[in-house]
Amino acid sequence: MKTKKFYVTTPIYYPNDIPHVGHAYTTIVADVISRFYRLNGYDVFFLTGTDEHGKKIQEAAEKAGKKPKEFVDELIPKFKDAWKKLNINYDRFIRTTDKDHEKIVQEVLQKVYDKGDIYFGKYEGLYCVACERYYTEKELENGNCPIHKRPAILLKEDSYFFRLSKYQKKLLELYKKNPEFIFPESRRNEVISRVKEGLRDFSISRTSFDWGIKLPFDKKHVCYVWFDALLNYYSATKENGYWPADAHLMAKDIVWFHAVYWPAMLMSAGIKFPKRLLVHGYWTFDKEKISKSRGKIINVDELVSLTKNSDSVRYFLLRDIVFGEDGDFSEKALIDRHNGELVNKLGNLISRVSGLIEKYGLEKCENLLAKKMNIKKFNELIKNYEFDKALNEVFSFIDRCNEYVQHKKIWETKNKKVLYELADSIKIIAILLYPFIPESCEKIAKQFNFKINFKELKTPLKISKIQKGEHLFSPVEYKKEDKQKRDKGLQKGDKENLQKNVNNEKINKQVLIHKIMEGIAEVDFSDWQKIDLRVAQIKEVEEIPNADKLWKLKLDVGELGERTICAGIKQFYKKEELINKKIIYFTNLKPRILKGVESQGMLLAATNSDHTKVILISPIDNNAENGMKIS
Ligand code: MSP
Repeated sequence: MKTKKFYVTTPIYYPNDIPHVGHAYTTIVADVISRFYRLNGYDVFFLTGTDEHGKKIQEAAEKAGKKPKEFVDELIPKFKDAWKKLNINYDRFIRTTDKDHEKIVQEVLQKVYDKGDIYFGKYEGLYCVACERYYTEKELENGNCPIHKRPAILLKEDSYFFRLSKYQKKLLELYKKNPEFIFPESRRNEVISRVKEGLRDFSISRTSFDWGIKLPFDKKHVCYVWFDALLNYYSATKENGYWPADAHLMAKDIVWFHAVYWPAMLMSAGIKFPKRLLVHGYWTFDKEKISKSRGKIINVDELVSLTKNSDSVRYFLLRDIVFGEDGDFSEKALIDRHNGELVNKLGNLISRVSGLIEKYGLEKCENLLAKKMNIKKFNELIKNYEFDKALNEVFSFIDRCNEYVQHKKIWETKNKKVLYELADSIKIIAILLYPFIPESCEKIAKQFNFKINFKELKTPLKISKIQKGEHLFSPVEYKKEDKQKRDKGLQKGDKENLQKNVNNEKINKQVLIHKIMEGIAEVDFSDWQKIDLRVAQIKEVEEIPNADKLWKLKLDVGELGERTICAGIKQFYKKEELINKKIIYFTNLKPRILKGVESQGMLLAATNSDHTKVILISPIDNNAENGMKIS
């Protein structure tokens, strides 16, 4: 009989920084799924990797003063180290700079082009570099990207387009015929209703930078990073027969690319599409968005160091949230589960039972205790991605086993048969938990002399010499002060880096101001001296099309002449309230494009924390002359 194949993927991550708890979560889930299917006898291929082309990486490399390839080459070992630390057992780590991938991207581009699904046009739109995508005005929040909360920039390019609009009907058919294609259903419904609203062709090439794969039919253009990246799933398995994928894992941020662009691209190229998209929620950290600039980030080293045990991290992330929903990461919750569930329940069971066996030995018998573990239900829960519930099932059984030890008073009765039931139950527990906490389960298997595979579940445990051995998990104390120290440490590190960057002029002043506001940077006198604040007078107030929060202001800044700025004060001040008003103007910010208008600086205003009140700051004395310096 041919072995059934199972192909699972993670998104390929942007290597512009080291991976954090969010990336770790997706990768651990993929690893759990892949280990589970392997145990069940499937021939599994597990793919992860990095998405290395595009403007985002090019800009990050420039900031670091490096060439893009050199920049990513230095980060890749950090990803591989992180996955090693978390015991991620992937079959290939694909990089979009791998030659075999680049070749396949070009082949597919040519196929789609020959089919007539790629045409040349001009594009102008608002682009978020962090997302690497264009947004419509409607999708932006006050000109800002809804995910990264930073302004989208106006980009104009000659570009090739993919005829996505042509595939609207076919995509809707795909979702209808394959209701399992997008999981969970709520995400599926969102996609369907958006696709029904209509699809716009998307630009698949860039000429404004060159860090990408060249289009085979026009070498002046490089391929759009998402067109390139999505194809990794196909290029990694084109030759080895695993395509199509059984499960693409991802968070909700990138569903659209996977549920719409990706199958349409494959339809056009005549390639089978994947069977399922598994979409999970977003992790926050201490109830805030994971963000490096705010110190709200926890990388893999930090994660593992909390309990000095990678299995605790794997267990916690899968046990603590319902797959598909958002979750909040807290160090305390991780440590609580480590102590309460892994140390006190599982660890305790293993050490008590092995200690008793060492003393009294085993005698084979039917394992009636095992009937309390519903293995069928456990398997179904995993196949339905209900990892928290599946773990709960096993831990209820662990509770039963601990109660059994207590109830049967083995230390008095010295009953070898009861000990056999317990040892055989420990075998079942370790095999079931193996996908989640592989390192600990391997230790248990060694101690109790069995192999980890699903056949062993039904094979009674062989009698052998079992010794107590070391504790599987050590308790960890949660100290609030440690967390505070770590948070401070993080910020301290950030401050030092920031200072270095400011000194090296790698960071612009606007970023510095934001950091100062966020409390990450301390300002010393030399920083303060870099900031040029002046008295200015508002001379003209103009509307900006489609901007309901911004006024375009012409300022008279005395000796500096006339300046234009966009100010987010439209909801707070009427035109006539502003004309001729004297304000304080921050002159030497790097200009920014807002709603297509170049804003040459900022004005100063007082605001409350939720920005519902904004009050302009002006010189008390109207004799202040335009252009006077604030010092
Ligand atoms: N390079 C693209 C993916 C291309 S796949 C063909 C990309 N990269 S990313 O580095 O931004 O990774 C996004 C993915 O990382 C999410 O879909 C999710 O898997 C994971 N996560 C990143 N932050 C996360 C959270 N805060 N919470 C949960 N998962 C998160 O997008």
